[in-house]
Amino acid sequence: MSTLSRMSRISVPEIKARKGGEPLVCLTAYTTPVAKAIDPHVDLILVGDSLGMVLYGFETTLPVTLEMMIAHGAAVMRGASKACVIVDLPFGSYHESPEQAFRAASRVLVETGASGVKLEGGREMAETIAFLTERHIPVLAHVGLMPQSVRQSGGYRARGKSDEDAATIIADADAAAAAGAFAVVIEGTWEPVARKISQRLDVPTIGIGASPACDGQILVTEDMTGLFSDFTPRFVKRYGNLGGEIAAIAASYGDDVRAGRFPTEAHCFGTLEAEIDQAVNKQVSDKLPKDDREVG
Ligand code: KIV
Repeated sequence: MSTLSRMSRISVPEIKARKGGEPLVCLTAYTTPVAKAIDPHVDLILVGDSLGMVLYGFETTLPVTLEMMIAHGAAVMRGASKACVIVDLPFGSYHESPEQAFRAASRVLVETGASGVKLEGGREMAETIAFLTERHIPVLAHVGLMPQSVRQSGGYRARGKSDEDAATIIADADAAAAAGAFAVVIEGTWEPVARKISQRLDVPTIGIGASPACDGQILVTEDMTGLFSDFTPRFVKRYGNLGGEIAAIAASYGDDVRAGRFPTEAHCFGTLEAEIDQAVNKQVSDKLPKDDREVG
């Protein structure tokens, strides 16, 4: 069914059932207006912890807190009525133990109303993924380039070039799917490796800098629209220049204010003649005894 004509929210089982079918269209959102704008056109909205870099200007996603994710998750849920909304668990909120992950994930689900959570990791997170899914918390896994691990991996380099690294990522994806993840995001990974993972998993893969063979694709909306342009990863296709448009609009506004073209009478209260007459008449009428007031 086309996402445009749908009334109810797309569920996690429906996302899972899209394995090998029509490609899943996924984007990130962090706010109500962006969620509203993209909702009719996507299957899944990810409230990604990329908001730390894109929205808050941090250098990495590491300073993002659970409170931030919950606030933005709730904002996105207020704007999206059709897409399946998934919220990222931020760094440090799930690594300690499956129990810690459950506490964080259940807060996300209860306080935002989202359908599931995403976490980074494969084999090392398999126990946690199983713990959550056995307790009715849908999990979207994330393998390959994992931004929460940049301190250890040494940067944002594409993964899977060597045979050894390819085998690591494949094992991570296998473990995440076997543990119960309903889908697996593959980020920044050598194309043949992402293709191979997509062929072997029985749950959908969602690629970002991965492969057209993935069952779906995701981009960060701010990258794709040109709202965030500090750097543009090679895997991003830019569909617009919103950052440039906002700058041009701000410049026009500045010109108008400096030249006295804004505000005009139309933008002020009590300045238009008709409005003034109406207000004066009302004041006079309010002062008259009830019987002397005009009718109508
Ligand atoms: O945080 C995020 O936005 C993500 C996507 C890039 C998949 O994890």
